[in-house]
Amino acid sequence: MSEEGIAKLIRSDLVAFGGYSASKSPETLAETVKVPVEGIIKLDANENPYGCSPRVKQVLGTYPYFNIYPDANQTELRKLLQGYTGVGAEHIVASSGSDQLIDLVLRLFVASGDEVINCVPTFDMFRFSTAMCNGKLVEVPRDENYLVNVSAVKKAISKKTKIIVLANPNNPTGTPIPKQDILEIVDTGVPVMADEAYVEFSGETVTQLVTRYKNLMVLRTFSKWAGLAGLRIGYGIFPVKIAEYLLKIKLPYNVNVAAVGAVRESLKDLDYLMDRVKAIVAERERLFGELSKLKWLKPFPSRANFIFCHVLNGKASQIQQELERRGILVRYFDQPLLRNSLRISVGKPEHTDALMKALKEIGEK
Ligand SMILES: Cc1ncc(COP(=O)(O)O)c(C=O)c1O
Repeated sequence: MSEEGIAKLIRSDLVAFGGYSASKSPETLAETVKVPVEGIIKLDANENPYGCSPRVKQVLGTYPYFNIYPDANQTELRKLLQGYTGVGAEHIVASSGSDQLIDLVLRLFVASGDEVINCVPTFDMFRFSTAMCNGKLVEVPRDENYLVNVSAVKKAISKKTKIIVLANPNNPTGTPIPKQDILEIVDTGVPVMADEAYVEFSGETVTQLVTRYKNLMVLRTFSKWAGLAGLRIGYGIFPVKIAEYLLKIKLPYNVNVAAVGAVRESLKDLDYLMDRVKAIVAERERLFGELSKLKWLKPFPSRANFIFCHVLNGKASQIQQELERRGILVRYFDQPLLRNSLRISVGKPEHTDALMKALKEIGEK
């Protein structure tokens, strides 16, 4: 069959679909620049520069049952997450990264033509997964400081609205949403998905409120604070009824046994991991101070593990390229509502030093 023939058979709404633009791997970059893979400084995907708990590496090296499927009901995992979050296991569903739960929650609520309210600019997976359901994204712009416009969100609600998605703090801008704003939106009665991927860095959560509301859901992840992005482990806290539906529609073995083992060991090593979270938060504030000294950048205060900057003088894409040539990966944006800007993940102190040295060199050119 010809390529045109295939295109006629696939879903018409997906023929021209623009996918998600994912971060570049250090191996891919090392092939194109004169920096060895171990010298690459990866500040483009908000990963944890300190890695995971050493206990995870130890235990996974000797795990004897990789030949056996994981528990489809996630019984032990949900108990472990109950211990960590303080919310009953019956409210919890885990996934292969919180990306997968975004997808699953949207698939649970959104059918073709249903509306999803999204406060843009924000995490692109909300657009991606809405499109996968053939839903309609209703975009409510944030204000000039990237705060959510609560009254505009409420006005955007229509008969077709199925869910409102809120990243708190927001990616890529690092902006928090005050708890009273979230509750004002929850009070509309529309299902609200609060994505708290960076909650360990922000310290602000509505997790404990899920048991009080029938329409509030919170998503979280082990990718950022626990350094487990590569093992893909996310979870959500839901009203019990919604958790039950999600457990029914998820793929049976959606969290692998290595990820379950990694959660078990990470939770035994909380002090170690939280010390690193503290180090990242302290480094975020130092990085913010350093970036603020450059007259051609405008960094925005962040509650996450990255800093978003407007480039006031010069082109963000060129700066990103110049950094990449020096082996430093950052993310750049140049699209409506995200004009000429960079997002820089917080690394170790030596990464900040290397980044600042490179930015000063680039700025002098
Ligand atoms: C707001 C937000 N939600 C969810 C995710 C996905 O995290 P993961 O799928 O690694 O758990 C990210 C990752 O960058 C994010 O920024």
